Amino acid sequence: MSKSIKPQTLIFSKGYDPHLSEGAAFPPVFRTSTFLFKNAQEGKRAFEIAYGLSPKKEGEIPALIYTRVNNPNVEMVEDRVVAWDGMESAALFASGMGAIASTCLTFLRPGDTLLFSDPVYGGTEALFRHVLPQFQIKTVPFAAGATKAEIEKLASDQRNVRVVYMESPANPTIVLNDLQAGREVADALSTPERKVLLMVDNTFMGPIFSQPKKFGADVVLYSATKFIGGHSDLVAGVAMGSQQLIDQIKVTRTLLGSNSDPETAWLILRSLGTLQIRMEKQQENARKIVDLLREHPKVERVAYPGLPEMGERQVELFRKQSTGPGSLISFCVKGGEAEAFRVLDAVREFKLAVSLGGVETLIEHPGTMTHSDMTKDEQARAGITENMIRISVGLEDVDDLVEDLRKALDLV
Ligand SMILES: Cc1ncc(COP(=O)(O)O)c(C=O)c1O
Repeated sequence: MSKSIKPQTLIFSKGYDPHLSEGAAFPPVFRTSTFLFKNAQEGKRAFEIAYGLSPKKEGEIPALIYTRVNNPNVEMVEDRVVAWDGMESAALFASGMGAIASTCLTFLRPGDTLLFSDPVYGGTEALFRHVLPQFQIKTVPFAAGATKAEIEKLASDQRNVRVVYMESPANPTIVLNDLQAGREVADALSTPERKVLLMVDNTFMGPIFSQPKKFGADVVLYSATKFIGGHSDLVAGVAMGSQQLIDQIKVTRTLLGSNSDPETAWLILRSLGTLQIRMEKQQENARKIVDLLREHPKVERVAYPGLPEMGERQVELFRKQSTGPGSLISFCVKGGEAEAFRVLDAVREFKLAVSLGGVETLIEHPGTMTHSDMTKDEQARAGITENMIRISVGLEDVDDLVEDLRKALDLV
């Protein structure tokens, strides 16, 4: 297919030949656990590739084996979901955490160090702070938005840095990380034998408004539960990178069993067609909610990419790294937890639930919900306060949302 074809066109046909499926215009669900080999040699070769015993040759299409290893619906998502990011290859997972944990376990070994921007999603935070250290992997946080000099200084005190991990923007504070700085620090720490990897969780803005590959990310990670799935009806994750890195990650996926399933993959295939238009409209709605929050007297501060109150450096990073601010907003009401809860309990059209990126607007309290595993100290250092509320804006009529939120804020 020609290189000039845009992502929004590519995602309707890449990776599927209707004539192999009775001419079905939309791919059927390949609900099967196992696949027939044409002959023993084909089976042998398929296993050599799947277990990383011998690399795939240029243009070689290995036979399918078993749905924990590969499946047509999963492979179609993997072929298409990279369209916007421009990555070579992808692996679909049972969840975002499946993608993150499997990727970490592929590249990190006892004695290695992972540097991570802080805060990150609560589950990732718990993996880094509590689980990886049990395998003698050291994990060291740096403040989201840190400069190259700050990350470099921290890195200079560490041994065997193998991964620089950034979530951009940070969940839930919406602070952008400097991806180029991450790349430069990783390069400075790399040796010819050992490349330090830059991993970026691009869930909040990607793939439409941010493509970390442009800044040298080796692996881009997604909770596909969010915008990619987009309807709050599935849980999935994606890791993207070079063919070589993704082949290694897929071996881990096969052995940990963190793969996605054909039904979920099929739903994601359907969601990909509307991903761009959903994200654009959700962003348009979010801007109007940001306008309300910025002028409402009960709101102390609003965090949203590109706002001048995020600071000059954040505005600069926003302009450099993204083509739009997306639809995640966090804001602090005047007061504390009680005042925040007042708003959460008063809204009618906002659904009180964690998660984000779906077509319906969700509202939550990071301090006691998504990020409650962090200690009060860790929360304070990461900028997660008791009066902070996070909103993921959906596709409802925005005037209704604005009215609903205004009324709830008036009650504070
Ligand atoms: C930024 C980010 N990364 C990763 C995850 C984890 O994804 P999942 O819930 O699909 O495992 C989440 C979940 O909220 C998230 O917000």
